[in-house]
Amino acid sequence: MSEEYIVIHGKNRLRGSINISGAKNSALPIIASTVLAEGRYELSNIPMVRDIEIMLEAIRELGLEVKRNANKVEIINRGLKKGHVVSDIVKKTRASILLLGPLVSKTGDVRVVQPGGCPLGRRDIGFHIEALSKMGAEIENGSEYIVAKANRMKEIEYEFPSKTVTGTENILMAASLINGKTVLKNCAIEPEIGDMIDMLTKMGVDIKGKDSDTLIINGKRELNSANHKIIHDRIELGTYLILASMDDNEIVVNAEGSDYVRSLLDILEDMGIYFVNYKGNLVLYQKENLKPINIETQPYPGFPTDLQAQIATLLTQIDGESGIRENIFDNRFAYADELNKMGAKIEKIDDYNIKIKGKTELKGNKIIGTDLRATASLVLAGLIAEGETIISNAYQLFRGYENMVGKLRNIGADIEVIRR
Ligand code: EPU
Repeated sequence: MSEEYIVIHGKNRLRGSINISGAKNSALPIIASTVLAEGRYELSNIPMVRDIEIMLEAIRELGLEVKRNANKVEIINRGLKKGHVVSDIVKKTRASILLLGPLVSKTGDVRVVQPGGCPLGRRDIGFHIEALSKMGAEIENGSEYIVAKANRMKEIEYEFPSKTVTGTENILMAASLINGKTVLKNCAIEPEIGDMIDMLTKMGVDIKGKDSDTLIINGKRELNSANHKIIHDRIELGTYLILASMDDNEIVVNAEGSDYVRSLLDILEDMGIYFVNYKGNLVLYQKENLKPINIETQPYPGFPTDLQAQIATLLTQIDGESGIRENIFDNRFAYADELNKMGAKIEKIDDYNIKIKGKTELKGNKIIGTDLRATASLVLAGLIAEGETIISNAYQLFRGYENMVGKLRNIGADIEVIRR
């Protein structure tokens, strides 16, 4: 199979407006929730990215009919043919783990492949397993497959030992089909979870506590299908706001979802970069006395781990020493070596801390996209670098950014995808 590369000739001045797509991390669990009830679903604002294609493949494997028309997806559930998601393609994403909870509640007999996704270090699923076991599932967490069986799932009271996004979503979906009151404490409160709660509510589940860390779910065996529009992708929005902050770019970004990037806007303001919401767009209106900064990633509403790599590229352009502490994953600095190949001065202190010395002029080089957000940070670097940047493993970018190459070309970037 041919490999995909992104080739960028940097230093073009970027001008124009960018529209933000639907949130991948919202669409994934919401598509998974369609296994819970028979009927016809119309989902809109679905980003056409590879992780979503794989999730759609996974539900097809379960017997659902899927029709795609641009960003609209129609799903028809006439009853599941089986409860197994085992095809090789699914191993690349978190799709299988998001199906485990709803499937075990629905069918009581599930086999899914172990989830993949970005190589960010340990990506534990112990809390998913623990909560589903308490609900009555017998789970074999094997090296290749997770097998879960249950005669009857029961309501529980469970406190997540620490915040988990897909863990909260998974158990929420499982609880939706259980007669009785499930209480989940220390839930993650990312906006994507709120979006999934809205979807499940339309499907007939009574959920109290949206946007708080305690959720009370009164589930029932028979739910109905529903239509839903996915929220905008705050990480894509943040990525383009960071790009708009670089060089003398003049980029306006549509502001839907801007409430969800408050932590980024606050940090940019601390650095001396101010955006204003003007007629539904975020526009940079002031940039002066740029200052280095220390940032820590945190669960929502803190600064997201999914924007950490992209802001590192911006920090290479600020005079002085900045620091990033990553608190969520233990291998999320793989991009640092790649940015250093382009002339950045990033020092890895340990698995959780880096120091960035700026300002450094970046030069194009051959670099590797190690994971989704890392690859986005390298694209940003390529756009401001002198000369040609070639990013291999470009697949990583296409997993989660809808048409990034096209969106960047529209505002004047010299960027293309080649296959060889
Ligand atoms: N964790 C456990 N036990 C568990 C579950 C999680 O120890 O049972 C730990 C993980 O090892 C990790 C931390 O808790 O250290 C957070 O993991 P979480 O479960 O919240 O991550 P996730 O649900 O696998 C989602 C997003 C990620 C995003 C993280 C954190 C999806 C499909 N993925 O992953 O998105 O980085 O939350 O916000 O929603 C991306 O889009 O690039 C991406 C990686």
